[in-house]
Amino acid sequence: MAEELLYEGKAKKVFTTDDENTLLHRYKDDATAFNAQKRGSWKDKGKTNATMSAAIFAYLETHGVPTHFVEQVDETSIMTRKLDMLPVEIVVRNVAAGSLSRLLGFEEGRKLKAPIVELCYKDDELGDPLLNWYHFRELGVSDEDLEFCEELGLKVNEVLAPFFDERGIVLVDFKIEAGRDAEGNLMLADEISPDTCRFWDKETGEKLDKDRFRNDMGGVEEAYAEMLRRVTEITQRGAVD
Ligand code: ADP
Ligand code: TMP
Repeated sequence: MAEELLYEGKAKKVFTTDDENTLLHRYKDDATAFNAQKRGSWKDKGKTNATMSAAIFAYLETHGVPTHFVEQVDETSIMTRKLDMLPVEIVVRNVAAGSLSRLLGFEEGRKLKAPIVELCYKDDELGDPLLNWYHFRELGVSDEDLEFCEELGLKVNEVLAPFFDERGIVLVDFKIEAGRDAEGNLMLADEISPDTCRFWDKETGEKLDKDRFRNDMGGVEEAYAEMLRRVTEITQRGAVD
């Protein structure tokens, strides 16, 4: 079980375990936004993010996506493989929102012709800037790793857009991370939750994700609970393979 605190991030605590290749991620109820300038916390956020991440990683594994997921240990904790993380945030978008709307002057909600993949540099001090491949090469990230990131992002989108659609949710966009295990295998890591995705109700357009916190919309606890319900209830009933 958990041994030493290896790292405390904005949303999770990461512990070493008695197996040197395994980590324990304890999801906190804390939230930050705008590069930690805004802080908050709400009940059951850690439970939602841990449980949703576990269910989605397990689902992705059955659809051919390698992930760091080992098992969910309790409501707020999951065990994963220990990875050497790539300093890349992979963002995939199906509908314009957030920083893409600002970048291209697109109205929020504009459906994109094809998914857009963006590779950002994971560096809080710089504000996780969107970079091109020349910048990443200069930072020592190889073309092979960037290619893996783009393909991973598109594959995850291909599997998860229909998964959420069946649950009445538009997968507007999301951010994922990747890393390499001790044997050199690259795989999906970190989390997939309402913190790291934009989820809109297909019928009403209601936002069911962290934008409710970012933009002071209220109802954030209820939105997270609703997303957890939609993912786990149908998964438990086995309506989706
Ligand atoms: P942040 O570092 O952005 O504040 P978190 O609070 O979510 O984020 O902390 C979790 C940290 O653990 C992140 O920095 C993430 O890159 C890292 N991480 C995620 N999965 C793994 C893994 N399998 N092995 C090692 N590190 C991981
Ligand atoms: P953006 O439109 O603000 O660039 O966000 C794109 C997606 O990435 C959205 O689903 C939220 C997610 N995201 C994170 O997971 N972490 C972050 O730090 C940011 C800025 C966005």
